[in-house]
Amino acid sequence: MLKRTHTLGKLRIDDVGSQVTVAGWVHSYRDHGNLVFVDLRDRSGLLQLVFDPDFQAETHKIARTVRDEWVIAAKGKVRPRTEGMENPKLPTGQIEVIIEEMEILNTAKTPPFEIGSAEKTNEEVRLVNRYIDLRRPEVQKRISTRYHVSKITRDYFDELGFWDIETPMLAKSTPEGARDFLVPSRLLSNSFYALPQSPQLFKQILMISGIDRYYQIVRCFRDEDPRADRQAEFTQIDVEMSFVDTDDVIGVHEKLVAKIWKEILDINVMTPMKRMSYKEAMDNYGIDRPDLRFDMKLKDITDIAAKSTFKVFTSTVEKGGVVKGLCASGGGKYSRSDIEKTLTKFVGDYGAKGLAWFKTKTEDGKLTLASSIAKFFTPEHLQQIIEVFDAKEDDLLLFVADTEDIANKALAPLRCRLGRELKLYDPKAFDFVWIVGFPLFEWNEGEKRFDSLHHPFTAPVPEDLEKLDSDPAGILSQAYDIVVNGSEIGGGSIRIHQPEVQRKVFKLLNISDKQAADRFGFFLKALEYGAPPHGGIAFGLDRMIMLLTGTDNIRDVIPFPKTQKGQCLMTGAPSDVDQKQLDELNLRTQKHLHAVEEKEDK
Ligand code: AMO
Ligand code: AMP
Repeated sequence: MLKRTHTLGKLRIDDVGSQVTVAGWVHSYRDHGNLVFVDLRDRSGLLQLVFDPDFQAETHKIARTVRDEWVIAAKGKVRPRTEGMENPKLPTGQIEVIIEEMEILNTAKTPPFEIGSAEKTNEEVRLVNRYIDLRRPEVQKRISTRYHVSKITRDYFDELGFWDIETPMLAKSTPEGARDFLVPSRLLSNSFYALPQSPQLFKQILMISGIDRYYQIVRCFRDEDPRADRQAEFTQIDVEMSFVDTDDVIGVHEKLVAKIWKEILDINVMTPMKRMSYKEAMDNYGIDRPDLRFDMKLKDITDIAAKSTFKVFTSTVEKGGVVKGLCASGGGKYSRSDIEKTLTKFVGDYGAKGLAWFKTKTEDGKLTLASSIAKFFTPEHLQQIIEVFDAKEDDLLLFVADTEDIANKALAPLRCRLGRELKLYDPKAFDFVWIVGFPLFEWNEGEKRFDSLHHPFTAPVPEDLEKLDSDPAGILSQAYDIVVNGSEIGGGSIRIHQPEVQRKVFKLLNISDKQAADRFGFFLKALEYGAPPHGGIAFGLDRMIMLLTGTDNIRDVIPFPKTQKGQCLMTGAPSDVDQKQLDELNLRTQKHLHAVEEKEDK
């Protein structure tokens, strides 16, 4: 067998004259009758091979038989391409290899799609044949970025004295707010493990054990519906530190982010990064993960709206609602039908009952607002609205009248859509912000109890500790999220380290003493044995890679991803299992029960 001496993508004009043996997949071939050209591909790139009957008649004959995706090895000499035939788009485009000997290492069936034009192939076909999809240079680039980010992360933490420690996959359920994936135990029938939603309690226990600095690049499992940036099985960079405060945790991790962005994209990220309170984010952007690449802040005009005669507004205000809106700079180009059909339907999907609008127009040299509802406002009130938004010529003002919650939920995505469509920012820019000052709890009206905004182990700010008894809704937490371009790439907190505070929090979450003992008894007990003050964070590695590689589909950055239905199309998981396996686990499926019933009926 011909033994490879060089990979393909690194050869350059300086290598002219070298004898090389290369191996890889036939990316494309062109048979000019006389000359045969093969573009050979490996992980490192593409290289043009030339087969010339006048040089090696036998080899040329074999070369004429190869097809796409066959695996070959070939030996020859590097030479410059004929003048005018260079390919400036290819790093190896100045050269080619004239082949004297070749070997077919394997043939291949005609692939279900062409590697070169896979973007046009539907994703399902690509996922079924993921081994072929993964041959695509752009997919390999994302996988390589993923590897490099992990490597940078490991080196970074190693240097700072963090230990990489594994935590169990067969674990007891930890509440991160999602449903657990359960694994039945064979040895203890009627018992189940939960796959970890995160290593939260284990990493806190490691702090209690004196490990001091822990990190892990770890798989987490959450049985929730997948979305564009969410998978049931995803990866965290998970960290915990002892004897630290918020500034310590933020400091270590913003430097890690800056290092990753520098090494992967050669982009300088300024540290310290800016911080914004949760309240400021909600008021101005309607969301706790604002995209700060463009301005377009939301404004509350409830006071002005209350003085209008527009029924929709006045009745909302009477019911205690708000009128909130935004001013899209350059939005004048949206037609009435764009607004009343497309944009109104868009906010409707987020619960808004309508979308009121004005466009700016100049009348007698003065800027004013025009729309079918302008007649419900006095000229003075229209001027006040212009002032609130500092509106200019050719702007579009859009409003939602509803509860503050629905107005925010509708306007935040509308703002992002308009920012994108009106090209208000550089799509290559990154804008980082830490969101801090979250409330510890949010009231769950349906269940008549508090929910944790992060998770139940997050500490309140010390000055609000006494409010645990008097005013839980008013407590701020020591949690922090890192947000970039509207995506939450990480979140964490300083933790509760006093058992009595932890018990109080469980109580407010309506977790009874008995439930707390059943589910977290081990943890409450551990807290009693000298837990140090500690805190940490977890980054969503997949989301980070999405941003670094410029894709908005999380499946693009996971080698073997799952579909919206949680299926692996390549292997066919999840799937039926043998009856014997179920019997061993003492489990019955519906299918099995039906089969038993049918048997009994007979
Ligand atoms: P949290 O639940 O915020 O915190 O998760 C941390 C980060 O993980 C990412 N992430 C996801 N990525 C892809 N698919 C998902 N389904 C998914 N869910 C979360 C997000 C998120 O910011 N134990 C705490 C961390 C801590 O307090 O230290 C935790 O898991 O980018
Ligand atoms: P209607 O009176 O329902 O015909 O609505 C008149 C205008 O007000 C339309 O442009 C609606 O989209 C808009 N509208 C209706 N309900 C709301 C609401 N809750 N918030 C903002 N605009 C609304």
